[in-house]
Amino acid sequence: MSGGLLIQNSMMALPNGIVQGDLRVVDGIITTIAPNGVIDPVFGEIVIDGNGLHLLPGAIDPHVHFRDPGHPEKEDLESGSRAAASGGITSFLDMPNTLPNAINRTALKEKLSLASKKAVTHHGFFIGATANNTADLQSVEGMEGVCGIKIFMGSSTGDLLVHEQRHLEDIFANTGGVIATHAEDEKRLQSRIPQFSHRKDIAAHAECRDVECALIATKRASALAKDHNHRLHIVHLTSGAEADWLSLNKGNLITTEVCTQHLTFDQDDVEDLGVRALMNPPIRYTEDRDALWKRLKDGTIDCVVTDHAPHTLEAKSVGYPQAPAGMPGVETSLPVMLTHAMDGKCSVGDVVNWMCAGPARVYGMKNKGSLIEGYDGDLTLVDLETRRVINDSDTWTKVGWTPYAGRELTGWPVYTIVDGVVVHRREVGGALRGMPMALPGSAGRALRFE
Ligand code: DOR
Ligand code: ZN
Repeated sequence: MSGGLLIQNSMMALPNGIVQGDLRVVDGIITTIAPNGVIDPVFGEIVIDGNGLHLLPGAIDPHVHFRDPGHPEKEDLESGSRAAASGGITSFLDMPNTLPNAINRTALKEKLSLASKKAVTHHGFFIGATANNTADLQSVEGMEGVCGIKIFMGSSTGDLLVHEQRHLEDIFANTGGVIATHAEDEKRLQSRIPQFSHRKDIAAHAECRDVECALIATKRASALAKDHNHRLHIVHLTSGAEADWLSLNKGNLITTEVCTQHLTFDQDDVEDLGVRALMNPPIRYTEDRDALWKRLKDGTIDCVVTDHAPHTLEAKSVGYPQAPAGMPGVETSLPVMLTHAMDGKCSVGDVVNWMCAGPARVYGMKNKGSLIEGYDGDLTLVDLETRRVINDSDTWTKVGWTPYAGRELTGWPVYTIVDGVVVHRREVGGALRGMPMALPGSAGRALRFE
């Protein structure tokens, strides 16, 4: 917690629009939002000149795969959290396919303990579902730092998988909180893999793990949610078909998300980027990308996430189809989306809705995601005027690359602030990586979910 912080004269992205003025944080809480010049600095307060910069609520990435414990050499909670902070993300939710899998209370406690020593941002963790761990899922219900249950309905990185109907019914019938599903149909997937085994071209990935695979599982998860009156969040939509179907069938129980990369890339980028763009579910086609934008704008899709999956370029170098699926993204998602905004795809307010308020709403994170007096002092002050080309060497992720290498992006955070504490700083025109400002474990808390 900080004594006090005053950000003067920035363009503040408030819930009702962008307003120029001052914002004060005391003891980690936003205490005052006022027009410029109304708040006088007090002795001992840190004063930041926000002139020419936009002040946003700290972004929330509710879908990352840090590799701690298990493969800290690829990403640990320190490097992942630092990468997040560098990208204006002040809270992250981490997936359970670590080693060991986070499938019981002991494993969750271990992750929370590691995060308390290593992270510089707020953090929460999913518990992974297996075919027979319902009692473990129940044992963490309401536990501080645990955001929900993750079900891999189709296999991906790691060995977490629940696809038999009776097991899924058991989980939906006997647990509470949010269930987040990776919706790809395992049966269809396994029946198709042999048909594509002769293909070495990366275009085969989206043909094999096709739209039907995703749509079947999305419909199945939705039916389970309705039958059992259970909150469901469907992670990373990739197809127009799923998004269109959900626009008619979502109701109040179901929320959903889209990844930055599925809003940015299509089949041509997959061709250009090769295995860097390999992920599950796949990057699809121009018409899917366009439909995802449409359904994001009409409110069907609640938030934008990264699915940050740090695989090394060395592991990827074996080529398709053996290369592991997934790409890093936690430190670039906000600039990528703000670049879309500056290019006219959406507004800055939309980005705040999708990356700050949206995830807070989906997971019930109280007092987060908006610039409102009384809310937590999680902020990012971004520069929307300068465009900078990002390269692999500009990244904080331990795997040292980004699928956006070579792209010119704007919206780079100049300050990232957690509970009123500056955790990352980037000089306008200075090194694109910027500088960490907080020691591991010195900022950020285990999140609470309502
Ligand atoms: O591409 C992916 N990578 N999809 C997933 O579902 C998991 C992730 C990972 O952990 O590598
Ligand atoms: Zn994921």
